[in-house]
Amino acid sequence: MHDLVLRGGTVYDGLGGPGVVADVAVAGDHVVAVGADLGPARREIDVTGLAVAPGFIDAHSHSDPVPLMPEPQPFKLHQGVTTEIVGNCGFSFAPLDDATIEATGPLFAELAGGVPVLPRDFAGYLAGIEAAGPTNHIAALVGHNTLRAYANGMDERLRPGALEHMCRLADDAFAAGAVGLSSGLIYPPGSYGDTDELVALARVAHRWNRPYTTHLRNEDDRLAEAVDEAIAIATRARVRLQISHCKVAGKANHGGGKALLAQLHAARLAGVDVRGDQYPYRAGGTFLNALLPGAALVGGTDAMRARLADPVGRARLRALAEDLTQPNGFWARVTPADVFVTTHATRPEATGRTLAELAGAGDAFDTLCEVLLADPGAGMVITMMAEDDVETIMADPLVGIGSDNGPPVGLQHPRTWGCFPRVLGEYVRERGLLTLPEAVRKMTSAIADQFGLAGRGFVGAGAVADLVVFDPATIGHDGTYAVPDVRPTGVEHVVLAGHVVVEAGRFTGERRGLVLRG
Ligand code: ZN
Ligand code: CU
Repeated sequence: MHDLVLRGGTVYDGLGGPGVVADVAVAGDHVVAVGADLGPARREIDVTGLAVAPGFIDAHSHSDPVPLMPEPQPFKLHQGVTTEIVGNCGFSFAPLDDATIEATGPLFAELAGGVPVLPRDFAGYLAGIEAAGPTNHIAALVGHNTLRAYANGMDERLRPGALEHMCRLADDAFAAGAVGLSSGLIYPPGSYGDTDELVALARVAHRWNRPYTTHLRNEDDRLAEAVDEAIAIATRARVRLQISHCKVAGKANHGGGKALLAQLHAARLAGVDVRGDQYPYRAGGTFLNALLPGAALVGGTDAMRARLADPVGRARLRALAEDLTQPNGFWARVTPADVFVTTHATRPEATGRTLAELAGAGDAFDTLCEVLLADPGAGMVITMMAEDDVETIMADPLVGIGSDNGPPVGLQHPRTWGCFPRVLGEYVRERGLLTLPEAVRKMTSAIADQFGLAGRGFVGAGAVADLVVFDPATIGHDGTYAVPDVRPTGVEHVVLAGHVVVEAGRFTGERRGLVLRG
């Protein structure tokens, strides 16, 4: 007697195989058989006419604090996502101590979405989210920004012994179950680190056979150089490499998608196990202060405030921000109309408006400075990619899907609520850019393999019973930048380790997610 049988669906195996009409039988938390006449079950769900796939694995999530929110948050389950990789872009929620929380202040607060940021080691963080009960499975990376802030504050130069300290903290995190190392090399204090610093940390990851994921040091004018750095780090440390949210930013660089992929292909031929992930949008989303050059944040957000408040400091930052030869800071590469303020701690009236609108007839850079003075951790959605590049990158088999979501509160990029359904609705069904089996592979086994999630990312006997049932004819997401928090269409059922947690589109309210330790 099986516990559950999904009857009559078209099964996509997650490995790129074609859809096959078959029943899927589950016993306990595992799939035990896929085929016909599988025998009786305590519970059957008729899924005739629907697609059955492995639960999607979000390669790039910022849901680190979400399990700690008082109410269960089903925004990923409603997309068919059963596992999230958190701790991306160098920002993990552990290890943290009081001094680090103080030094990084608004940066973690912006990511936390109202959840208190607590001082904890990595084991303590994992135990904390486990006890709170995530709605989907969570696997966590340890972040370079966090490690550096812990060991070295917001200083630019490394203090004596700080790198060794970072390596010990990374080792502790891997021992506790961190599934990889992440970096976010546009964000202070990680951006102050050089290649050798990252090689040293990635070598710790290598000892644990964990991958290195990176938000590259540059995604616009110096993209090629930044990809070379990531490949050099992976080569020297002998780790698998995941290029986060692959993109070509900045109008002057549009059309560069093919060149980016050529670099990845060449690295693979040279023996580096490199892959990437991507969200299906022309706009990104991050801290508003990423518009400024890295020099703005040296010493932390209070130091940044002091620079912005002082006319001389502000003028110096403006000169740097407007200088196109500066490698960091987006200011010179976008127009104020491309910048949409999404979150602001003290001025809710600033959210939902572009910098151009906020500036009116005034000076847009001064407006930016005023908005940041009032909240150095404010968030934005920023349009900076070309659709041709989005498609070119998505068509490549090395690139999987990752949402890069923020916390599901307030105004956020629509990817938070709709990334995966948008790929399946817009890029598979409407545009025919990908086949359905290939898109499912990019959301499942392609990610499981990279992060070492054994037994996940495929449908077959022996797989963990994380499953999604969706309607390929209706799946999609109608969210917009102005109204992003819309429930996707076409995701019918979600099974999490054998438990039906979304049934006929409705979340049951159960917190059945597990912490997956490396
Ligand atoms: Zn990032
Ligand atoms: Cu990210």
